[in-house]
Amino acid sequence: MPKYLLTGGAGFIGSNLVRHILATRPDVELVNLDALTYAGSLANLQDVLSHPRHHFIHGDITDRALVRQWLAGVDCVLHLAAESHVDRSILDASAFIRTNVEGTQILLDAAREVRVRRFLHVSTDEVYGSLGAEGRFTESTPLAPNSPYAASKAAAELLARAAFHTHGLPVLITRCGNNYGPHQHPEKFIPLVISNALSGQAIPVYGTGANVRNWIHVHDHAAGLLAVLDHGEPGMAYNLSSDDELDNLTLARKLLSIAGAPESLLRFVPDRPGHDFRYSLDSSLARTRLSWSPRIALAEGLESTVAWYRDHSEWIRQVRNPEFNRYYQSQYASRLEHAAKTV
Ligand code: NAD
Ligand code: DAU
Repeated sequence: MPKYLLTGGAGFIGSNLVRHILATRPDVELVNLDALTYAGSLANLQDVLSHPRHHFIHGDITDRALVRQWLAGVDCVLHLAAESHVDRSILDASAFIRTNVEGTQILLDAAREVRVRRFLHVSTDEVYGSLGAEGRFTESTPLAPNSPYAASKAAAELLARAAFHTHGLPVLITRCGNNYGPHQHPEKFIPLVISNALSGQAIPVYGTGANVRNWIHVHDHAAGLLAVLDHGEPGMAYNLSSDDELDNLTLARKLLSIAGAPESLLRFVPDRPGHDFRYSLDSSLARTRLSWSPRIALAEGLESTVAWYRDHSEWIRQVRNPEFNRYYQSQYASRLEHAAKTV
């Protein structure tokens, strides 16, 4: 039975990927290694925790002995564990260096020792930096990360690239755009807008809301990751994206309309420092070489996502816990105090 080690499987994308693998690969045994930081939760895995082919391990990827122990007999590594929020990296970058950079090197070292068949390193479009109104990132666009988060992800994927070139580790790199869907932490824009809208709270929009993101449903991303794992060429990087680009203000208005909440909740707040203006990915390489393409249209995906959060108020309550409220206060209290209403 093929054995995968997935890191970060209690987080947003990881937990969706766990479900996708269990549902579509009946022969795969899955070891899910996650430190359960503020961003990870067993509540994201409730329905699969006792699945016979899913083994959840509470552990840190920077623990070399533990990583070695769980890599024994593993065929493929799917490395998603990371500190993932740009705003938190601006407040304090240290955990980003530890997990994203040091943790990745520890995994690469251990994967090399046991000679895994594939090492899928999940990176991000943020490594490319920022675009103006025109153009798209291709896989050959030079890396130019702007936030501490993006810089730590660029460092991680360069280490993965080096492991391929120097040691022959069969590394595959993916760079995806902004994901949305069920189980996303409400520190991120879409679940923040939805959960604030559902509870009638003000919604912070950075700057003028003109920044553009290239959105993809997390289920499409999960399918893309497996396409790269199966058919990607070691040493290559693959962009994964939909064609759905939207500025933040338009996106927030759409979500409010779906949630049946008033636009008067929107507030323009002081901008994120160094805020990348636009991301847009050319994913024709993955689409032509790997026969993958995203299937979920944005309108449909946003509807189902709002419905998911509406139906999971207990999940929202658990994640928006006192620790989250402390972060929320430090990130938004003074911004919201001086905010301008958008309508
Ligand atoms: P997330 O923050 O929701 O989840 C991260 C998970 O990693 C959590 O479960 C957390 O507990 C775990 N983790 C953190 N530090 C760890 C450590 N030291 N050891 C073990 N586990 C640890 O993140 P996400 O949005 O699901 O992103 C997953 C991956 O995909 C990340 O590598 C991220 O950079 C990448 N990515 C995310 C997006 C997006 O839009 N969310 C887009 C492209 C790429
Ligand atoms: O592009 C891929 C990246 O997408 C991933 O690598 C990151 O892990 C993921 O967090 C995401 O990064 P962003 O910074 O783009 O996502 P976030 O949800 O934080 O913000 C989306 C946009 O919304 C961005 O332009 C900032 C804006 N925003 C965000 C927050 C939290 C606001 O206007 N207000 C907010 O309160």
